[in-house]
Amino acid sequence: MAKKVAVVVGSLRKGSFSRLVAKTCTEVSPASLSFEFIDIGKVSLYNQDLDTDSPPASWQELREAIRPCDAVLFVTPEYNRSMPGVLKNAIDIGSRPYGKSVWDTKPCAIVSVSPGAVGAFGANHHLRQPLVFLNMPAMQQPEAYIGNAGKMFDDSGKMTNDSTREFLTKFMAAYAIWVERHTPK
Ligand SMILES: Cc1cc2nc3c(=O)[nH]c(=O)nc-3n(C[C@H](O)[C@H](O)[C@H](O)COP(=O)(O)O)c2cc1C
Repeated sequence: MAKKVAVVVGSLRKGSFSRLVAKTCTEVSPASLSFEFIDIGKVSLYNQDLDTDSPPASWQELREAIRPCDAVLFVTPEYNRSMPGVLKNAIDIGSRPYGKSVWDTKPCAIVSVSPGAVGAFGANHHLRQPLVFLNMPAMQQPEAYIGNAGKMFDDSGKMTNDSTREFLTKFMAAYAIWVERHTPK
């Protein structure tokens, strides 16, 4: 059976290039993976005072959406050389209550995306830091820094850049192997 991957996109923007890259990843992926896009836009801000036995419904929804997934694919833009706050908020909410993190042991990969040339390197590597603490095996190679993302899609959102599509195809093939290796048989 296909392994289920939670796709977590770090942008809420309607025309998000990150979301389009994420969509492309799902299109070029091996069939051994299936995907569920997780909506992190409705998740209210973390406040430890509210993290009780009856936390906000939006937190529970996020946790229950992630929990049954086998793996996670993070696709994120860069804000001020780091990950956007909405993404960090979702990560923090999924990580609590302490000892009950929904992220624990789930293999993951990161694709960072920017209209700029550097491909959101800063966001990609800042994101790796909490993933160490969260005990998520994060694929090291290939790395994915997708730059010039503003020029890669047609008006319908289809990726028109063949070399990037080819790169993402190889990336997703490696990720499928990574997921297989880091999930129970
Ligand atoms: C608050 C803010 C900070 C940004 N900082 C960066 C940055 O550090 N590096 C970068 O490459 N782009 C930066 N950008 C530009 C984003 O890459 C651009 O808005 C991109 O389209 C956002 O990703 P999305 O298309 O997936 O929404 C920033 C944008 C915003 C709104």
